[in-house]
Amino acid sequence: MNADTRGPVVPPFSVISGAQVQRALQGQEKQITELVEATYRWHGAGDSVNPPSYFLRFPDRPSSRIIALPASIGGQVRVDGLKWISSFPENVAAGIPRASAVLILNDHETGYPFAVLESSIISATRTAASAALAADRLSQGRSRPTRVGFFGVGLIARYIHTFLTGTGWTFDETHVFDLSADSAAGFRGYLEQSGTPGRVTVHDSAEALIRSSDLVVFATIAGEPHVHDVSWFDHNPLVLHVSLRDLAPEVLLASTNVVDDVEHCLKANTSPHLVEQRTGNRDFLAGTLDDVMAGRVTVPADRPVVFSPFGLGVLDLAVGKYVYDEIARLGELNVIEDFFHELKRYG
Ligand SMILES: NC(=O)c1ccc[n+]([C@@H]2O[C@H](COP(=O)([O-])OP(=O)(O)OC[C@H]3O[C@@H](n4cnc5c(N)ncnc54)[C@H](O)[C@@H]3O)[C@@H](O)[C@H]2O)c1
Repeated sequence: MNADTRGPVVPPFSVISGAQVQRALQGQEKQITELVEATYRWHGAGDSVNPPSYFLRFPDRPSSRIIALPASIGGQVRVDGLKWISSFPENVAAGIPRASAVLILNDHETGYPFAVLESSIISATRTAASAALAADRLSQGRSRPTRVGFFGVGLIARYIHTFLTGTGWTFDETHVFDLSADSAAGFRGYLEQSGTPGRVTVHDSAEALIRSSDLVVFATIAGEPHVHDVSWFDHNPLVLHVSLRDLAPEVLLASTNVVDDVEHCLKANTSPHLVEQRTGNRDFLAGTLDDVMAGRVTVPADRPVVFSPFGLGVLDLAVGKYVYDEIARLGELNVIEDFFHELKRYG
């Protein structure tokens, strides 16, 4: 950025609000899903740096955490940066979202941060785009699901529903299960408001939800497995295990397992990590979504398929840079004048 004949210069620094982010991403489900697909390919080809996420936890607030996701992505995006995202589950009872986040974008050439973006929307968007992409790619060669079930229906479930419908999915039946009756009612209200076709059923049992759905989306906040019964998956559903810790090892061992990134996903006591700890190996993993997209791995039709995406910082960067470019194109960047002020070496 900003390289001219005198060499690199300090880029202007902007702050991008959630309202701006939302406007830039509204109705862009197809474009963002394509961008996420391209980003997985660049990452799969090694054109990225994506070190392990750092989990900041607190002895006095054990259910809460703040995660740092530093990353660098090449391809056509070429940007470095950091997502800093909090999860405070008790917020929900107070009527505010569980997750809050900022994303810092750093200039590829000078390293200077050139934007800070509200990032809970970017994070939910890249998560939902990844889920919609996985639903499409992992159902190829199998019968395409017509009955979707949402297991845990907060903000992420809503975004995934928006991305599924925004990328062409329609369902004859939509099934809902949540431990909280308020959440289930809120999600049903959203489905009605958004004009979801087909029948909507709210279940009071996890088993009924899973048995009724051939595409199951887990978006709970469970810290350890609570679904153990392998027979609930006898109909070989496609499972988007976005919340990562719902399924017991025996369920994964009876399924074809696909992840976004092997090293990332086998950490932090995710269900795949528990399987590795139990079996002492990684034989239960079929490969990554990129492996499936590239045809290196084929997904069988006669077993459940479970996609466990750890959530990669490179996706946040790609979507964040898309938002930045869009706001810049519209001439709506809020530039903070003189943000970097000490620019002469000897004053
Ligand atoms: N893998 C990724 O890339 C990625 C990215 C973003 C979020 N997430 C995960 O998605 C999950 C959902 O996030 P959110 O912002 O929608 O949270 P949220 O708090 O808004 O909603 C979670 C819902 O799950 C319900 N729930 C909790 N435990 C349950 C259980 N055992 N059975 C059924 N319902 C249950 C809650 O009542 C709530 O309605 C979180 O675990 C988050 O970490 C994953």
